[in-house]
Amino acid sequence: MVVGADEVEDELLSPAALLAGMPTRRLGRPLVYHRVIDSTNEEARRLAAAGSPEGTLVIAERQTAGRGRRGRQWVAPAGRCLLFSILLRPALPPERLFALTMAAGLAVQGAIIDQLGLAPALKWPNDVYIAGRKAAGILVESAFAGRELEFAVVGIGINVNVRPAELTRAVLGGAADPTLRHLPSTATSLMVEAGRPVSRSALLWDILRHFERWYERILAGESPLEEWKGALLEWGQEVEIEAGGERILGRVVDAAADGALGLALPDGQLRYFYAGEASLRPRPAGAEDNLPESA
Ligand code: ATP
Ligand code: BTN
Repeated sequence: MVVGADEVEDELLSPAALLAGMPTRRLGRPLVYHRVIDSTNEEARRLAAAGSPEGTLVIAERQTAGRGRRGRQWVAPAGRCLLFSILLRPALPPERLFALTMAAGLAVQGAIIDQLGLAPALKWPNDVYIAGRKAAGILVESAFAGRELEFAVVGIGINVNVRPAELTRAVLGGAADPTLRHLPSTATSLMVEAGRPVSRSALLWDILRHFERWYERILAGESPLEEWKGALLEWGQEVEIEAGGERILGRVVDAAADGALGLALPDGQLRYFYAGEASLRPRPAGAEDNLPESA
């Protein structure tokens, strides 16, 4: 369903219609819908602690404390984006947990291709980019008892029917948050890229359908690693990585099943960086082109 531009703002999701069209076997039910919540990830964690089953989907029109990695904020105006979290209870060891981030990225990418014919790529470790700008973010959170995974929450935020300039105003009741001033030039949305409003329900269904397929393969012992490597924006590119206060230049030549990114450094060394400790920055202009082609 494509709605006219004027209708987009008012059109709330219908939990009953979402459930009725749910194309999945085990994910997406029960469905917990909120007009406003602090964070769908936080709500999914609360529900997990209270015993909610695998597959529980938490979806909100607006978040007051949406979050990204490492304590960063995720902002979205009410009713025009997709903000949701899936509660999972897989028996995965810690070193296989990153497969869920890969699967979520591939599912969002797949659904955007299916629905809109756009060409999204995945920015390591957890973002979805279109035409060089961030359109979606993924945040997987987990709780372990020793090496045993109690639950994982796969949180996904997608800029759907929103203009990037509005994102900055989406916090603090309309006042611009100075730390998010960059969003008009670094973010994009599906509406902007497709040139028309986009059905949030159809997109959600398609993401869940793709994600469930990947999830079943993961449970069967497979890894999405090869497909994920193929989807990475930075594959083969020279990048600058920021880790532990250091800035390191390198060429992306490998990725591991646990999400570590392998960089070939100028001295020929191959060094791996973990998502928990590193951020990728575009390679600074004028940096010397002395990086090896392969490790
Ligand atoms: P990294 O390379 O470390 O992942 P990042 O800037 O993508 O860097 P994340 O923690 O993944 O950082 O994502 C959170 C960041 O995303 C926020 O700090 C903000 O800059 C940006 N952001 C917040 N809301 C949106 C949004 N709706 N669309 C695009 N970007 C957003
Ligand atoms: C990132 O880019 O760092 C990840 C952003 C993830 C945002 C989504 S929105 C739905 C879910 N709830 C949250 O608080 N965060 C995730």
